[in-house]
Amino acid sequence: MTLTADLLLNLRENYIVVDKYTLICEALKVELAQFGSLFDSTMNKSDGLLGRICQGIAERKGKLLRPMLLMLVAKEWSSVQPAAFRAALTLELLHNASLVHDDIVDDSDMRRGRPSVRSIYGNKAAVLAGDYLLSTALESVALSGNIEIVEIVSRLGKQLSEGELLQLFNTQNTDFSEERYYNIIRLKTASLFSAATRIGAMTAGAPAEDIVRMDRLGDLIGLCFQIRDDIFDYYTDDIGKPVGNDMREGKLTLPVLYVLNNTNDEKVLGIAAKVKEGVATADEIADIVHQTKQQGGIDYAKAQMERMTMEAHSLIADFKNAEVKEALANYIDFISERRS
Ligand code: IPE
Ligand code: IPE
Ligand code: MG
Ligand code: MG
Repeated sequence: MTLTADLLLNLRENYIVVDKYTLICEALKVELAQFGSLFDSTMNKSDGLLGRICQGIAERKGKLLRPMLLMLVAKEWSSVQPAAFRAALTLELLHNASLVHDDIVDDSDMRRGRPSVRSIYGNKAAVLAGDYLLSTALESVALSGNIEIVEIVSRLGKQLSEGELLQLFNTQNTDFSEERYYNIIRLKTASLFSAATRIGAMTAGAPAEDIVRMDRLGDLIGLCFQIRDDIFDYYTDDIGKPVGNDMREGKLTLPVLYVLNNTNDEKVLGIAAKVKEGVATADEIADIVHQTKQQGGIDYAKAQMERMTMEAHSLIADFKNAEVKEALANYIDFISERRS
């Protein structure tokens, strides 16, 4: 018996749970192959210590979420133009530079399941390697020949550093402001996603109002992405980071902020103050993590992601390219459902 197309479709929809990430990659097969060779050739150029560091990053690529988003959005209006490929490379390089530096700031020894650059080569080499990646990103954006993209990327670089700096000094604020939390994650994380959607639309010739709409789409996706990342920190089994890592760094994220702003529990408030001062013990951190779950902090953060996911879907509701629309819908859902 041969399977008819209808039956296959039915099987796919009802029985075979195809990973959403795989589906997104399939929709971008051609573009990802081209992006991959551009990325590899860029990372393959230098010798010695830099060569080894770049090689390590090229070998252990991440999920490539930002370039994928840029390319998907571009495909709604036309195809991925050479300047868009350059911009996609720029964003991925900038993202990698920010991770190399972030692991120094956070004293993190692991990245993508492997020892981080700083743990292999030390903080000094990691500062310089991050700068090298950043400059390679700038070189790539210059090669796009598009001054508007150069402007977006320059602003983006400032936003990423400002976000990380605000977060670093947020421990000095004694309140538990959700507004400040959103401001930080918008700068340090969502800005890369909104740059991706904006550039994708721009390079494909989208009308001005659609470029603004896509900017908002990237913002929502990026905020959701960081909230999901912050929820990981409350569980052991997710991405291999120890529970309460953020709190050990003095970072209070959305789930616990909700509890702190809605409780009179003196003990919980006391531990949070100690987290900010960097003096909370491991038991106290375990306790506040437990209390956050008990008092609905995770549910609250998930509800915020759900709200943003719904708005994101509404922004692509009138997309004309059915394949792009389906892949983007999967992308939006993947961001809050992902397990790594
Ligand atoms: C991790 O980003 C850093 C955050 C902004 C939370 P990704 O999860 O996109 O990193 P890779 O590139 O796939 O490893
Ligand atoms: C994400 O910040 C990295 C940047 C935005 C530069 P985090 O410190 O929260 O992310 P992970 O957990 O190290 O990936
Ligand atoms: Mg960090
Ligand atoms: Mg970090």
